[in-house]
Amino acid sequence: MAVIVIVGGQWGDEGKGKIIDLLAEKAKVVARFSGGDNAGHTVINPYGEFKLHLVPSGIFYSQVTCIISNGVAINPAVLLKEIDDLHNHGIDTSRLFISDRAHLIMPYHTLLDELEEERRNKGALGTTRRGIGPVFADKVARLGIRAGDLLDEDTFRSRLSAALEFKNIILIKVYQVSPLSLEEIYDQYCHYGEQLAPFIRETSSIIREAAIKGEPVLLEGAQGALLDPDFGTYPYVTSSSPLAGASCIGTGLGPREINRVVGIFKTYNTRVGAGPMPTELKDEIGDLIRKKAREYGATTGRPRRCGWFDTVAGRFSVQINGLSDIALTHLDVYDGFTSIKICTAYKFNDEVLTSFPSDIAILEKCQPIYEELDGWQESISGIRNFKKLPAGARNYMSRLEDLLSCPISLVSVGPDRRQIILVKPNTLL
Ligand code: IMP
Repeated sequence: MAVIVIVGGQWGDEGKGKIIDLLAEKAKVVARFSGGDNAGHTVINPYGEFKLHLVPSGIFYSQVTCIISNGVAINPAVLLKEIDDLHNHGIDTSRLFISDRAHLIMPYHTLLDELEEERRNKGALGTTRRGIGPVFADKVARLGIRAGDLLDEDTFRSRLSAALEFKNIILIKVYQVSPLSLEEIYDQYCHYGEQLAPFIRETSSIIREAAIKGEPVLLEGAQGALLDPDFGTYPYVTSSSPLAGASCIGTGLGPREINRVVGIFKTYNTRVGAGPMPTELKDEIGDLIRKKAREYGATTGRPRRCGWFDTVAGRFSVQINGLSDIALTHLDVYDGFTSIKICTAYKFNDEVLTSFPSDIAILEKCQPIYEELDGWQESISGIRNFKKLPAGARNYMSRLEDLLSCPISLVSVGPDRRQIILVKPNTLL
């Protein structure tokens, strides 16, 4: 298995949680490398049902060391709630570590995320309002507060008062709302700090040592490639990089240590929040996909926009991530479809585009060019052998592999962790 990076190939919500859960069974270290509690997935296992936004799902395996690494922005209240929930279900969290370099989401980040979205009005980005944009902006502006700062109350107080002085000017003068209290935030975060102290440490060495020893390591991304601030549909993007390359910067592991890069793709496309999505279906087929696959945001509960698989965007994602493998999820959602469309190119004015444009003004005007394939009528949820899949499903996968120029190694055919098909030859597991 060695070092495997797992990333979302589309606009997030591809079902990374299930694939990570599957691969984590054999892992020694599982580290989240980007995003914050804007991500989220539900894990159902013999211990119960868990909604995880920050803790890697490897926590359910006793041999796995779980790391929330430096590339992640942490809301301490959300993390402590997750840790509490795990304790209440008898899960040992002594193998969970938080990077001392990880930035913290502060009350002014969530407040400013709300205020900025309201100010944008009709141009709102549709953020998750978890403070993600503001916390990563502060990281780059050198105004951030990091988990390690909580370990020394004097350092924490001086960093907080410097940041808050500036934030309060913005709250009062720009947004004309009440300033936030230094004392209240200080007390609240010192309390969080006491509870989080046993988890906070330097974490890149744990990951590096495991990688050097050849132990199986999983680096878990958040969101999806098309939400990347550089390569995604800017400005309708998130604020930390969901790409495989970010797994190095977000954990402190060098690129030469990475052996495989697995992109998770849904069988169709979804998107939450605003921004262009050329294959979006605003008709009964889009509604059918949403209903069958229960496509509602895990973090915000918003209905997801659904559409046919876009291989122009998908091919771009394969390239910018350098994918070695694809895991295709939700293939069973197409059970009963008589025909299935795949977007193979875009029509832009009189031109045919086969590469993903960097300018959303162009992307917004692109019309998908579709190829139509026969579907299949039977239910595939009980199938575990690739050869037993109906011809329609195998043809669909083979056409995707051709158009994306990347092999599909795993296929998920239902929500349960056993509902998975390994496509041979498979060396991921
Ligand atoms: P933010 O990350 O909350 O700032 O939101 C920016 C954009 O990324 C919005 O369109 C969100 O809906 C989207 N986004 C953020 N996290 C996720 C996710 O985990 N899945 C899908 N979309 C996400």
